[in-house]
Amino acid sequence: MTVRRAAELLATARQGLALTGAGVSAESGIPTFRGEGGLWTKYDPVKVSSIESFLADPAAYWRVSKERGSIALAARPNPGHEALAAMEAAGRLAAIVTQNTDGLHQDSGSTHVIELHGSGRMVQCLECGSREARADVQRRLDTEMPPHCRSCGSIFLKPTVVLFGEPMPAAALNEAFELARQTDVMLVVGSSLVVYPAAEVPLLAVQSGALMIVVNAEPTPFDRFAEVVIHGRSGEVLPEIGRLISG
Ligand code: APR
Ligand code: ZN
Repeated sequence: MTVRRAAELLATARQGLALTGAGVSAESGIPTFRGEGGLWTKYDPVKVSSIESFLADPAAYWRVSKERGSIALAARPNPGHEALAAMEAAGRLAAIVTQNTDGLHQDSGSTHVIELHGSGRMVQCLECGSREARADVQRRLDTEMPPHCRSCGSIFLKPTVVLFGEPMPAAALNEAFELARQTDVMLVVGSSLVVYPAAEVPLLAVQSGALMIVVNAEPTPFDRFAEVVIHGRSGEVLPEIGRLISG
């Protein structure tokens, strides 16, 4: 019984670590990027979500971000997020490394969250550096497209997320890699595991001797390296694992 085996591994982990992707927020109503209905099945990511395309035409970026932002800002954690927060509270996970920028892990009570791709909750002006809550900018997108910086008027106001072609936050990446080297049980949830260096984290964990658990709606390229593979919805599978851990 793979769910039972996953619970056993996490219940006895010396220092568990989780890596999450868009799939863990799918049941909160936020579309994923790949797979059925994914954002990149509608838009070309390089055209709408690269730093080059943003600088060339901030309005094109904001038109897509306005649509996705209204969903993400209204989203609430689902039982999958809550189960991960409970595992951390019970000492079964040292941290959650996430590719998501929706802030739902923090909303569900997770405290040690490493955001590899930044946070969609803030925006920053690339010219004067001033920051503003993304929710405040969302409110003026109907009348201000692209939004202007409140301090200097620049149109280069960008959410504090990592766009294609931008460097990853070095401190976050280094911490994630360090935890990957230390972990003995690596739980990967809701990621297609095709984007690097984020996908490097579970690979490094396995190379360092960790046992990997993959929970995903469909097969991933890392299934063959995993001790346990569960193809299912994280909002159902993670609470079930959590119930078995707490016994
Ligand atoms: N439960 C578990 N897995 C799910 C669910 C669910 N309810 N719904 C979808 N999935 C799976 C999909 O099958 C898919 O394999 O989640 C995975 C999501 O993959 P992606 O959409 O590629 O998301 P992610 O792996 O996080 O993408 C990485 O790519 O575009 C960039 O910056 C973006 O952070 C993102 C990165
Ligand atoms: Zn400014």
